[in-house]
Amino acid sequence: MIDMPKLPFAEDAMEPFISAETIQYHYGKHHTTYVNKLNELIKGTDLDKMSLSEIIKTADQGPIFNNAAQVFNHSFYWNSLSPSKSAPTGKLLDKINMDFDSMDKLKEAFMQAGTTLFGSGWVWLVRDASGQLKFEKTPNAQTPMSSNMIPLFVCDVWEHAYYIDFRNARPKYLGEFWEHINWDTACKIFDQTDNETYVGLKSCKDIHDPFCQLLDEVLSNELDEE
Ligand SMILES: [Fe+2]
Repeated sequence: MIDMPKLPFAEDAMEPFISAETIQYHYGKHHTTYVNKLNELIKGTDLDKMSLSEIIKTADQGPIFNNAAQVFNHSFYWNSLSPSKSAPTGKLLDKINMDFDSMDKLKEAFMQAGTTLFGSGWVWLVRDASGQLKFEKTPNAQTPMSSNMIPLFVCDVWEHAYYIDFRNARPKYLGEFWEHINWDTACKIFDQTDNETYVGLKSCKDIHDPFCQLLDEVLSNELDEE
């Protein structure tokens, strides 16, 4: 059985970027439905005893995978958001400058990825197995966890993420998302994955379990600090 994760901020903390009404639907209804549906589907099966990452790794493409990946993707999305503006620092900032030249170019690449993703999906800043930072677009419920990439943040570009507040103005939502990225979390993930367990063709065969464990640690530290 998979638990519904806590929202890492108050329902109205993101206003006016994301209204409490959007959170009530997106977290309270959509995310909750994915958790409930997943639990319904795995009840009485071997998957019921597995962690979320094990389910994503084990399940074939289909309803169980889709619901499990949507639970992970949404939990990661909430933790990619910050009510206040932050900025990358340290090793991640150096890496951004190395791979994208500047923060302006990084934003350009993010906007380009978000506006060209057709239909519903996700835009992730990831580090691939060769160590390179890049934006990865995943349609529907696909997740970079399936390709052994290390996600640093994600933007949900399903219409349910922005329709109440922005109607169909996706570029405006993407621009506001950029101002609310939780760079502290992205930096923590980068620092803790900048090693051969995660990066490098030899050992980056399966990041699921170590990554989920790390994510749990990063996120629980985050909550403790508040
Ligand atoms: Fe969503």
